[in-house]
Amino acid sequence: ADLTGLTGKRVLVSAGGTRERLDPVRYLTNDSSGKMGAAVANVAAAAGAEVTLVTTKAVPVLPNVQVVSVESAQELAQAMLAQPADIVVMAAAVADFRPVTTATNKIKKTADNDEFHLDLVKNPDILSALGHQKRPGQKVIGFAAETTDLIHNASVKLAEKGADMIVANQVGVPDSGFNVDVNQVTLLRPEQPPLPLPKNDKLTIAKQILEIILQDN
Ligand code: C5P
Repeated sequence: ADLTGLTGKRVLVSAGGTRERLDPVRYLTNDSSGKMGAAVANVAAAAGAEVTLVTTKAVPVLPNVQVVSVESAQELAQAMLAQPADIVVMAAAVADFRPVTTATNKIKKTADNDEFHLDLVKNPDILSALGHQKRPGQKVIGFAAETTDLIHNASVKLAEKGADMIVANQVGVPDSGFNVDVNQVTLLRPEQPPLPLPKNDKLTIAKQILEIILQDN
């Protein structure tokens, strides 16, 4: 892959599933391992980019990747919106909702309550915020993990979120998506036919994503 265009570029990547706290010992989360985001960060850093990885998971990265550790979607939003970047890759699996309140102390079960109801509120859409406040020349890439209607759902996201690319990712099947080393994706871009990539390891997929976004410049 020709990644020479990355030299000196500021690349900002998010990775991992957010953790949304109920109380000091419990949270809501998802199966994202941070592997895809870490692969993008490492490929970009190896190609000479200035890389910041905002991550919920401790993942192995090259020494020249600046790591910012976060937990919740709100922390992730704050970190992503504060960092200047030429290319932003939102590979994190952001929780759609968080608990309305986080209890200060551990939530207790009681003898007389057989049900417990949790109130949730929508998280900010970070990709959408980044996509709609893009500077000229800046590229914003998102992921769409879907179990059904992959291409249709991902195309809607491409338009609604103002992204330059959505990496559509079949999840809920073996050998693709969350927490495995390989991935099978289709790249969607405005006014371009969908580009399905062969199943490959996440490092190779990361190279292809970055190479194609550089070509679109
Ligand atoms: O809408 P959906 O969650 O399927 O979109 C996935 C894409 O949007 C991913 O790139 C994810 O990082 C991003 N996202 C976000 N903020 C949210 C939800 C998703 O940035 N609250």
